[in-house]
Amino acid sequence: MKGYFITFEGGEGSGKSSAILEIQKYIEQLGLKVITTREPGGIKISEQIRNVILDVDNTDMAYETEALLYAASRVQHLKEKVVPALEKGYVVLCDRYIDSSIAYQGYARGLGVEAILGINMFALKYMPDVTYFIDVKPDIALKRLNGREKVDRLDLEKIDFHNRVYSGYMEACKLYPSRIISIDGTQNLEKIISSICENIKERMMENGIIKG
Ligand code: TYD
Repeated sequence: MKGYFITFEGGEGSGKSSAILEIQKYIEQLGLKVITTREPGGIKISEQIRNVILDVDNTDMAYETEALLYAASRVQHLKEKVVPALEKGYVVLCDRYIDSSIAYQGYARGLGVEAILGINMFALKYMPDVTYFIDVKPDIALKRLNGREKVDRLDLEKIDFHNRVYSGYMEACKLYPSRIISIDGTQNLEKIISSICENIKERMMENGIIKG
C-alpha cells in the first residue's frame, strides 16, 4: 500500500476535530496528497447504516446490533473510500476508527473488547499505520464543551458513561502500544497539534515518504 493511514481518537470535547483540520494543512505543506474523512464519510451505504444507528425511534436497539452496525458502516467506508485513496498514495486522516468501537461499544456498553475485535477483524483488512489518542479525562473535556465550571446531576450520568469510554481507550492503548500514540490533551490546542505534526513528520521520514 502506497499511502499512509492515520486515525484520531478521543472522547467528546478532546479537540480532535479542530486538530485534524490543522494537521491536514501541515501534511499538505509537506508536499503530500492528503484527504480527511470520518465514518460514515459520505459513503451512501455507510450513511444509511448510520441513520439506523442514530434514529431516535430505535430505542430498542440492542447494544450488539449497534456494535455490528458500526462495524458494517466502517467496512464499507474503508473499502469504498479509504483503501482506494491509500492505493493512490494519499495520506488518509480518519476521525475515529476501530478504537472508538473498543471504547464505546466494548467498554462503555460493556460488550467486551474480545467481541468488538472479533466482529471488526472479520472484515477489516487494514489497521491504521498510526493512531493518535488525545488523552483528556472526561470531567475536564465535558467542562470545556459546556463552557462552564459547574457540573450538574445530569452531566454526572454522562460523566459516568464517558469515564467508561476513557477506560476503554486506556485498554486500547495497552493492547496496541506501538500503533496508538497518546497525546496529552490537557495542553492547549496549538501544542496538541504541533506534537502530532512533529510525530507525523518523523514517521514520514523514517518510512522514506519524505526526505529530511
Ligand atoms: P460524532 O458526532 O461524529 O462525534 P465526535 O465529534 O465526538 O466524533 O459522533 C460520533 C459518536 O459515535 C460519538 O459519540 C462516538 C460514537 N461512536 C461509537 O459509539 N462507536 C464507533 O465505532 C464510532 C465510530 C463512533
